[in-house]
Amino acid sequence: MVIAYTKQEVKTWRSEHHNAVIGFVPTMGALHKGHLALIEEAQKVSDLVVVSIFVNPLQFNNPSDFEKYPQTLAADIQLLKAAGVELLFAPNAAEMYGSTATLTLDFGSLNQVMEGPNRPGHFSGVGLVVGKLFNIVQPAKAFFGLKDLQQVRVIERMVADLDMPLSIIPCPTIRESNGLALSSRNTRLTEIQRNEAGIIYQVLSDTASKIKKGTSISEALLMANSVLERNQGLITNTEYLQVVNAHSLQPIKYVEEAVEIAICIACFIGEVRLIDNLIFKV
Ligand code: PAJ
Repeated sequence: MVIAYTKQEVKTWRSEHHNAVIGFVPTMGALHKGHLALIEEAQKVSDLVVVSIFVNPLQFNNPSDFEKYPQTLAADIQLLKAAGVELLFAPNAAEMYGSTATLTLDFGSLNQVMEGPNRPGHFSGVGLVVGKLFNIVQPAKAFFGLKDLQQVRVIERMVADLDMPLSIIPCPTIRESNGLALSSRNTRLTEIQRNEAGIIYQVLSDTASKIKKGTSISEALLMANSVLERNQGLITNTEYLQVVNAHSLQPIKYVEEAVEIAICIACFIGEVRLIDNLIFKV
């Protein structure tokens, strides 16, 4: 595996492989099986796979979340070598941004729901860094996890609106056996919290199956919220729990309003903020 720390090194590597179909998996490191599943998907349909690791300061609205974000580069490198990745791009912030970046991106209605109002500036930072990474790596395909559904929709919009010459491939969420979605932030949970956090997925699946069986969305959400309230010892705060159109991400009241529906949650276990969602059809 080649490790590039600079844009120039990526450019040189890329020019040596200018005819290859490049599959790209952008990450912030602290790699887990969710990231590895994206790499496997990329390997199935690409000649060469590039992974980036960059904890992007611009997308953290909360300085303590940024400081506490797990960084495990040495272990990540071992995992990527074992997985058979061809190139790792791991720049530092000075290399990535040079002088301060001033461009902001407004994703309109996609940014007015869920993570948007709760994490001001987050998707502008995500869009900026992902746009830069696409220009540096020049992949034919880029792989994103549906665990971050809103991020997938934002990137799809950016690629469509700017005619970026690549395809975005959304990939399914990888979970622990208790249903907890894998996340780099899970390393900040205690073992007990991790075991009990399966309740988040349980609430999502119970709510989805009630809606499928004909319970109204508002009634199903009421029941879900009461389960969350009963578990306040674990889930200290729920920022949102919403049923939305899985493509526009706008909240819906009736199942007829969407072909694919997503139920999305952001909640805190102690000080750790987790998000998850479940996509379903009725
Ligand atoms: P990060 O949180 O490291 O996630 C990198 C990619 O892995 C994202 O596409 C994310 O959706 C995916 N992923 C995370 N957990 C997953 C799981 N349990 N199952 C499947 N996929 C999962 O998302 C980011 O980094 C950043 O915002 C980034 C896109 C790199 C821009 O900085």
